[in-house]
This record gives sequence, structure tokens and C-alpha cells, in this order.
Amino acid sequence: MSKIEELKQELKNLGSEYAKIKTLPPEERKAFGEKINKKKQDILAQITKLEEEEELESVEKIDLTAPFAENETFKAKKYGTKHPLTQELEKVISIYSGLGFDILEPFQLDDEFHMFESLNFPAGHPARDGYDTFRTAEGFIPPAHTSTMQHRALKKYKKNLDEGKNIAVAIPGRVFRNEDVDATHEHTFYQCEGVFVSKTATMGEMLGVLKQFFEIYYGQSLNIKTQPGYFPFTEPSVELLIEKPKSLGGKGDGWLEMLGCGMIHPNVLKCAGIDPEVYKGFAWGGGIDRLAMLKYQLNDIRYFESGKLEFLKEF
Ligand code: DAH
Repeated sequence: MSKIEELKQELKNLGSEYAKIKTLPPEERKAFGEKINKKKQDILAQITKLEEEEELESVEKIDLTAPFAENETFKAKKYGTKHPLTQELEKVISIYSGLGFDILEPFQLDDEFHMFESLNFPAGHPARDGYDTFRTAEGFIPPAHTSTMQHRALKKYKKNLDEGKNIAVAIPGRVFRNEDVDATHEHTFYQCEGVFVSKTATMGEMLGVLKQFFEIYYGQSLNIKTQPGYFPFTEPSVELLIEKPKSLGGKGDGWLEMLGCGMIHPNVLKCAGIDPEVYKGFAWGGGIDRLAMLKYQLNDIRYFESGKLEFLKEF
């Protein structure tokens, strides 16, 4: 019998001691009762101490001198999992890579030029107000959409066009908006931007790529439709809706708005040194949190940034 088991047995035996109280003369009962209570507390304390020691012994010793990558103890799976949005981001990246898109990572601090001018929002354009941008005292902008990367993507991959190839880039990243937070609005969330340029790009090709993306992501065939939209950086601009996936309770009637998209405005191509008379492009941008909320049937976007373990452990 282990020491802990012995103590537990002793604890059980105290039961008969308690039973004795009734048989004692009333004036002795109090002192006797106190004595066994004290004994009980002592035994319980000893058990707790031994159990703690046992637990400590069973914990794997960490070799703090081992290189991080080789240290089994620190491997993520053992003591945690990836954040649900990281998991979705990785899925989104792998789908677009599979469709032949290069992946770029956006900046988390940007400037007026990439946020607005390069996207055909001249100074004073009323649509600037729709983006609820934060600004640092120095005038830097934490990007309010991943479209801030369009200009950089076009410039970086312009050489593809010179070599007779297309530009195909997906840019998933974190964005920030200074708006009132509620179940469907967060100050920090994730978007994925897509940019495609060739000599012959069409809206039809764009819808084909997007339909394929959503079908792979939700693992089923889907209906899509568009409705008119407005973005200064695309012309025409539309919003893309998907029919609620059947596996998520869709009955062929509910439409969900997933992203904004359109043909890249000639001024945006020109600004990156691409001749809009020769090349056409399409672009899109949509929320990743929204994709995941639908997939996991979450009704509050704030869970993602809350750091609540009960929520995170579900993934
Ligand atoms: N940046 C837009 C937003 O956050 C979404 C968007 C619309 C991106 C149209 C695009 C686009 O690339 O072509 O509201």
C-alpha cells in the first residue's frame, strides 16, 4: 500500500471515531470532536502534499539547453494548438497556392499612398471615410484592408508580364479598423486579397477562380451570384455572394456576402507602371474571420481576439 493509500484508509477509519461521539458523556463530546477534526485536517493536508509531489515527479523535465526546434517539450501540439484563425489562414494559403497563386504577406503598418492614392482614391475622395482607418501620430496607417498590397504586388510581379506570364498573387493578412466593436465587427481581423493580371483577364475568369476557392474551402459544390458594389480601385466592382452551404444547413435560399471584387481600375495598373491598354486584371478581397465563422457556425467575431481558453480549446 502506498503512503497515500494508507492515509486514505486512516481517513476512512475516522468514520468510526466520529460514530463514537454519540456514546460519550455530553461534556466530553466537544473536545473529542475537535480532536478528530484536527486529525482529519492533518491527514488531508498530508495527502495533498504527497499528491503534489507525485504530480511534480511525473512532469517531464525540460532541458532548457536543448535547441528549440529539437525540444519535444515545446512542440505546439503537446501544450496547445494553433489559433483557429491561423489554421484557417493556412488553409486559405494552401488553396490559393494549389490554384497557382504566389503568396505575399502584408505590412502591419503602412502609409497613405498604399492605403489610398495607389488604389485610385485621390485626396479628399469620400470613399476614404468608409475605411475607418487608425493613424499613428506620425501619420502611418495600420492597414484597413489587404488592398494596401495591390500596388506592391503589381510592381513586384510586373516582370512576369514582361516575360509573357501572368501575375497571380494572394495576400492573406491582418487588418485594423477604428469602428464600434460588436458581434459582427472587430477592430482587428483578417482578409485575403487576390490580384490577377494577364492580357485577357475577364470577370468570368475571376468568378471561376472564386467559385473554385469557396468550393474547395467548404468541401462542396456551391452556387454563387454577384450584386453591384463600389470600390474606387475596381471598375466594374461587384460583391460576391455564395449560397449557404448545404452541409451548414443551407436550404437553397440564403445568400451570404463573402467579398468585394472587380476588374482592376486602369489607374491602379498605370500607377504600378502596367499599361492598361495591353493588360487587364481582376482583384478581390474578403474576410477570413467571416469564412471561419460560417464554417464553425460562430455567431460572434469577438471570440477570435478574446484569448478565451474555453473557445480556443475547441480547435
Ligand atoms: N478592400 C475592400 C474592402 O476591404 C475589398 C475589395 C474590394 C478588395 C474589391 C478588392 C477589390 O481587391 O477588387 O472592403
